[in-house]
Amino acid sequence: MTFRILTLNSISVRGLERLPRDRYEVASEIGHPDAVLLRSADLHEMELPASVKAIARAGAGTNNIPIDKFSKLGVPVFNSPGANANAVKELVVAGLFLGARNICQAWAYVRTLQGSDEELDVAVEKGKKKFVGYELPGRTLGVVGLGAIGVEVANTAHALGMRVLGFDPQITVQRAWQLSSGVEQAVSLDDLFARSDMVTVHVPLITATRGLVNAARLKLLKSPGVILNFSRAGIVDENALLESLNAGKLGAYICDFPTTQLKDHPQVVALPHLGASTGEAEENCAIMAADTLRDFLENGNIRNCVNFPEAVLARTAGATRLSIANENVPNMVGQISTALAGAKLNIADLLNKSRGDLAYTLIDIDSVVPTSVIDQVRGIAGVLAIRSL
Ligand SMILES: NC(=O)c1ccc[n+]([C@@H]2O[C@H](COP(=O)([O-])OP(=O)(O)OC[C@H]3O[C@@H](n4cnc5c(N)ncnc54)[C@H](O)[C@@H]3O)[C@@H](O)[C@H]2O)c1
Repeated sequence: MTFRILTLNSISVRGLERLPRDRYEVASEIGHPDAVLLRSADLHEMELPASVKAIARAGAGTNNIPIDKFSKLGVPVFNSPGANANAVKELVVAGLFLGARNICQAWAYVRTLQGSDEELDVAVEKGKKKFVGYELPGRTLGVVGLGAIGVEVANTAHALGMRVLGFDPQITVQRAWQLSSGVEQAVSLDDLFARSDMVTVHVPLITATRGLVNAARLKLLKSPGVILNFSRAGIVDENALLESLNAGKLGAYICDFPTTQLKDHPQVVALPHLGASTGEAEENCAIMAADTLRDFLENGNIRNCVNFPEAVLARTAGATRLSIANENVPNMVGQISTALAGAKLNIADLLNKSRGDLAYTLIDIDSVVPTSVIDQVRGIAGVLAIRSL
């Protein structure tokens, strides 16, 4: 079986290499595509052919994809969570040093100096007193949000000798396994702020996290504290932050989100949204999207999906696999099993997972499954899509 992939943006070659040419036709114009691979192309107004069985985005966000529309068609939408985590982590770690050693402010000072080398020497020796910093070992970093990026930041800061406190009430089992055992748990956000010299936020911008760094929490932070924000601007209450900086309570704000108020402030280092801007991050996203898509097309397995549940089943040797996207309603597996039993087909293995209104079923069957049976299952009310692999 060969698969046809429609690309709607240029996708890193390293990613496309994961789709072997003997099994995949990949092009920006292609008839009857099995799947769409994209980055930022807007699918909201685009009609895709009915042959499309999956959408894969080389990137984390999926605002450009009408998820509900594809859910109703039984089409999984994949993304690449965490593929840029190392890129963001490296910039955050750079931010720890920028904040602890006043590096940008010191560099800006040197650029203002005028005169001969001898005069510079005098100015340097006199001026450096203003930029005395501190070393990281022994200092405490609070990490809010222990997802893909937060865990990497916490582990690296701990390896640098920092005491690290983490807070994430919804940490996943996978992330908990990745987290260094030296990272301590804060009992609340206030507890984290009260015990930290530096705080870095790695949470999505949602109602619960908007303004999470606020006046009350900035008061709790040790002085002169450092806030790092490489997540989203709105997580920090900008006015409260400026008040704290101007009152001398907060020492520095290192972020990826310049605003008119922030960009020229002497204690702010605002970078132009550079967190994920590395060639490697782009490649990692493309590789993850291509690998995920391939496993779905060839084996029906679902990972890194934003609408259907994770569903991964090792293949039974010699078996035919049915992959079925269905509504999460009672007796779906019963009806499917009855249809298979009626055709004297034996189930070797079965996995059924649900997520909200949707469910997904993988069934390995000991023999070939006739088209008539597949059509019968397709006709069950609530079955959204079925494939035989
Ligand atoms: N600067 C950049 O270029 C850049 C690049 C990538 C991601 N980001 C931002 O970084 C954020 C984190 O990315 P990620 O890949 O680590 O996401 P992720 O989904 O892997 O992790 C987010 C974590 O935040 C936790 N969380 C949610 N609400 C919380 C709360 N109220 N308190 C504590 N924890 C909470 C979740 O449980 C989850 O573990 C993204 O949402 C995005 O906004 C920025």
